[in-house]
Amino acid sequence: MIRIDIPATSANLGSGFDSLGIALTMYNRVWMEEYDGLEITSVDDTPIPTDETNLIYWAAKFLYNECGKTLPGLRIRQENNIPMARGLGSSSACIVAGILGANRMLGTPFSQNDIIRIAAKIEGHPDNTSPAISGGLVASAMEGERVYSVSVPVSEKIRFAVMIPPFELKTEQARGLLPKTYSREDTVYNLSRSALMTASLFSGDLQNLRVAVQDRIHQPYRSGLIENFDNVFRMSYELGSLGTYVSGSGPTIISFVHADEAESFAAACETHLAERGVTGWRVVLLSADPNGARIIVE
Ligand code: HSE
Repeated sequence: MIRIDIPATSANLGSGFDSLGIALTMYNRVWMEEYDGLEITSVDDTPIPTDETNLIYWAAKFLYNECGKTLPGLRIRQENNIPMARGLGSSSACIVAGILGANRMLGTPFSQNDIIRIAAKIEGHPDNTSPAISGGLVASAMEGERVYSVSVPVSEKIRFAVMIPPFELKTEQARGLLPKTYSREDTVYNLSRSALMTASLFSGDLQNLRVAVQDRIHQPYRSGLIENFDNVFRMSYELGSLGTYVSGSGPTIISFVHADEAESFAAACETHLAERGVTGWRVVLLSADPNGARIIVE
């Protein structure tokens, strides 16, 4: 069997809507092999589709079709550590597992660039799938179906306090609230900040992050879907966040924190959330994953 380890991802980073994303040190694990039939199991108690609607299976089949081949059947085993529908790239992790696993089973006919393109085609935007494949901080642009993307390492001075609420938010719902057009002022506001974000995360100029996360494209329209949004944002800055943003389309909220202060920040968050009656949220400390998805033959 082959095993694919796929990192969680955080898209947008505030200002970089549909274009910036980062891989994080939380992983789903998927075992896969060709099989005469379809057998899908979970090694934990996460409910997953066990029929042809399973996204890993669907993505694997898609890749076989792209290659002009028919997928005979598949045995899949899933370990699900990335919480679903929380803005941490759980569906991208499934897509990436399916196409990377299928590519390996077919003898690697597709290059990494092809995989990045096919993953973005399935997902519709590249900001989760590209970092899940490449690791690091990834800036991506799509031209038609082609994806141009660059992965750069993230300064080791930065860690991520990932605040995960006890409720889900579907990306389609969160995208459905966004306007069709934006003013030039709002566009320039975001363009300048997302450029600042990329340069600052790479260089470690941490004082820029508070401004670089600011956004007028999506967060203002989505905040109403996230219970305790204001509470959590305010608390994070009171406790010394370098910059706080909605991860992907939410509802998870992430603070950039100094690596030296990360443990005390996370502990203080948990205390303050409890004091404010905000219950059920988990605070997880993660780092940037520099490698992206890995295939291991077992
Ligand atoms: N860029 C996407 C969005 C990420 O914000 O809708 C969610 O998958």
